[in-house]
Amino acid sequence: MAKIGVILGSIRQGRVGEHVAQWVMETARGRDGADYELLDLAEFNVPLLTAPTPPAMAAKNYDDAAVTAWSKAVDACDGFIFVTAEFNHSVPGAFKNAVDSLGPEWTRKPVAFVGYGAEGASRAVEHWRQIIANFSMFGVRNQVSLSFAGDFSADGFTPREVKNSDLERVLGDIELEVASR
Ligand SMILES: Cc1cc2nc3c(=O)[nH]c(=O)nc-3n(C[C@H](O)[C@H](O)[C@H](O)COP(=O)(O)O)c2cc1C
Repeated sequence: MAKIGVILGSIRQGRVGEHVAQWVMETARGRDGADYELLDLAEFNVPLLTAPTPPAMAAKNYDDAAVTAWSKAVDACDGFIFVTAEFNHSVPGAFKNAVDSLGPEWTRKPVAFVGYGAEGASRAVEHWRQIIANFSMFGVRNQVSLSFAGDFSADGFTPREVKNSDLERVLGDIELEVASR
């Protein structure tokens, strides 16, 4: 069975991304097209990239134990869902650093996006699409865009009904992509 890593990319204290990632995982649990595993970036403590060897040339050998653990977790996945916030109209820095810190672990794997923010994190997702192109990753066209105006309330995360079907469609798309490789 193919394995899809659901990457919770915010490491902030009190992050709302945790609720979003849990929603993705709960929805995915009812499906039989792939195994889904939550990769919580906050648990990996990936350091800022200071290694002298560019990750693309490191052949998956890293001096730092935290990077090695992150490498193994990513390498074990056939595809990904990036659960992403938008910071200053782009991708969150810690998430970008974690992507930059690896190389071949990402190459040619498909990725789908679940974004949340004032405008559904659509600017961040567009920036992700440029970034993943450097790994020859395939970006699933459909995406889930969650907005503070409609999908979050004082009670927390309350996605509109249509977002459930948006997510099911994206999960179906990424499952098809991993199965076709
Ligand atoms: C440094 C920073 C920059 C932000 N910039 C944006 C932005 O450009 N667009 C947006 O929709 N929200 C922006 N926000 C608000 C975030 O969407 C909001 O804080 C969200 O809860 C972040 O996700 P998290 O709670 O999972 O970390 C920003 C938040 C921070 C901390």
